[in-house]
Amino acid sequence: MEYTNPGPPDGEKIYKLLELLYEGHIDGGLRQVMTEYLADDNYFKIAAVDPATGAFAGFLLGSCRLEVDFECRAGIIEELVVLPEHRKKGIAKTLLEALEAWSRKKGAKGVLVPCGREGFYEAMGFEKYMVRRYWKDLKD
Ligand SMILES: CC(C)(COP(=O)(O)OP(=O)(O)OC[C@H]1O[C@@H](n2cnc3c(N)ncnc32)[C@H](O)[C@@H]1OP(=O)(O)O)[C@@H](O)C(=O)NCCC(=O)NCCS
Repeated sequence: MEYTNPGPPDGEKIYKLLELLYEGHIDGGLRQVMTEYLADDNYFKIAAVDPATGAFAGFLLGSCRLEVDFECRAGIIEELVVLPEHRKKGIAKTLLEALEAWSRKKGAKGVLVPCGREGFYEAMGFEKYMVRRYWKDLKD
């Protein structure tokens, strides 16, 4: 497997992967958000590339910011996905380690997953916190 830091031209390859997480519903809103992420150097992006096809086999989108609850600067996992046929080969672990190294250089003391599924993160040494999320639409 090869690894690359994707940018705006890689949008379509990334939408293909995200279809897995969002059950095929990649609408205009998600595309717009992802396009902005890909163009913004404040965010960390890394993709695993299948050398046989050039397709993306995995993708991690991360950031680094001050975190009130943990009283420090933290790396944040915004998105993490690996294609089913490439799972259990250590790809997500490699992507996570790259985010950890980038976050550490920015002064982070830990990595936070605001919304993660069970299994992988426990295996990677994360501690689980139950949180209740709230959202309010800002009307026009
Ligand atoms: C979760 C996910 C990213 C893991 O990717 P992966 O490349 O298969 O993970 P790795 O091969 O790097 O696994 C690393 C370790 O985690 C463990 N692991 C991976 N997925 C696991 C799961 N679902 N349950 C329990 N352990 C898991 C592996 O066994 C491995 O353990 P080891 O180091 O002791 O051998 C992938 O299954 C996926 O994309 N799932 C759907 C989307 C998702 O859940 N994203 C993350 C939360 S939003």
